[in-house]
Amino acid sequence: MTKVKIVYASMTGNDEDMADILSEDFEDAGFEVNMSEISQTEVDDYQDADVCIMVSYTYSDGLEGNIPDEGLDFYHDLLETDLTGKIYGVCGSGDTFYQDFCVAVDHFAAAFEQTHAQQGAPSVKVELAPDQDDIAKLDHFAQTIIQKCQ
Ligand SMILES: Cc1cc2nc3c(=O)[nH]c(=O)nc-3n(C[C@H](O)[C@H](O)[C@H](O)COP(=O)(O)O)c2cc1C
Repeated sequence: MTKVKIVYASMTGNDEDMADILSEDFEDAGFEVNMSEISQTEVDDYQDADVCIMVSYTYSDGLEGNIPDEGLDFYHDLLETDLTGKIYGVCGSGDTFYQDFCVAVDHFAAAFEQTHAQQGAPSVKVELAPDQDDIAKLDHFAQTIIQKCQ
């Protein structure tokens, strides 16, 4: 059975909701899903999975790359990890009020590229809470990855 590890960073629940939507999509396809919050997760947990997903909000507080504070250790560990042979995908919520809209998504995608994992679908960026259009985009993101695994 194909295994999916979904890691999310969420302050007010938008990214957790997105992670839930993806989780359901993968489960409906018969994949085994394991989901956890970023500060409770080691990057090594990706080693047990075939598909590695990150869902993260963006936070501009002057820290590196606008990565959520509680996700910085994970981000740094990811840069040092080899995920050759695995598929990755990144999504995230942000707010276009900020100049650096959803940049944490791009930083995580760049970090995954360094791990030698293969991108399973283009990243999805969502404005605040996912609306119907965003849910369709997330479903499409999951389906693209599901097809790559078959
Ligand atoms: C202090 C602060 C700084 C933020 N900085 C950014 C930013 O630089 N870029 C961005 O796209 N969103 C930024 N956001 C918006 C959050 O990423 C957005 O509210 C997101 O939906 C939160 O996701 P969550 O509900 O999963 O916590 C910021 C929010 C706060 C409160």
